[in-house]
Amino acid sequence: MSTPCPPPPPPQPSLQPNSPKGDLPPSVFTLPRTAQLEALFTIIRDKDTPRGDFIFYSDRIIRLLVEEGLNHLPVITKTVVTPTGSTYEGVGFEGKICGVSILRAGEAMEAGLREVCRSVRIGKILIQRDEETALPKLFYSKFPPDIARRYVLLLDPMLATGGSAMKAIQVLKENQVPEERIIFINLIASPEGLKTFCGTHPLVKVITGWIDQGLNEKAFIIPGLGDFGERRYCE
Ligand code: URA
Repeated sequence: MSTPCPPPPPPQPSLQPNSPKGDLPPSVFTLPRTAQLEALFTIIRDKDTPRGDFIFYSDRIIRLLVEEGLNHLPVITKTVVTPTGSTYEGVGFEGKICGVSILRAGEAMEAGLREVCRSVRIGKILIQRDEETALPKLFYSKFPPDIARRYVLLLDPMLATGGSAMKAIQVLKENQVPEERIIFINLIASPEGLKTFCGTHPLVKVITGWIDQGLNEKAFIIPGLGDFGERRYCE
């Protein structure tokens, strides 16, 4: 006599609460913690993942983040006529956007933005630690001339202490971009970096893929994925 099959396990929910801590500032949005997202992060966190796979899978997460960032742009009603001759009451984006990448790691996120926004304008900003003051210092910036009238997607994969990102916001504000028109997109954030950043710039929306445990003594995110730029650009 055959034994009956055990009942199948109940389906695992793919969606979990948006925030692991539940005490995030209102300006912070995380991607839904699906099993797929966790699998993608597991690959890119693995120190043995080869560079080609690191690029492929980090690009997949970047694409999800950019799509989520676009969800936060305001829209206005727009009516179109379809090929059937009917009218369709839809929406269109209210304003123009541009990307601004924080060099060098942020440059890796530009392709993800270009994939979803045709002909998007992209600015760049280079911030490094000033050896004398130990503070983040602006070394270079180049923006679209009309940046003050655009929504800005600020791109940097790792939000560690928040120093570079906050300097970038300061530079954008000096170029007349108001905080409420900036969306900061990153893959992994530290809780302390998020707290400092959001405390200083509460009107900037932050879209992050994952909030990690914290920072080590070298200001690397733990568990993190190591040096994003090294893993992306160096063999
Ligand atoms: N930048 C990185 O690339 N990794 C970190 O963990 C922190 C900053």
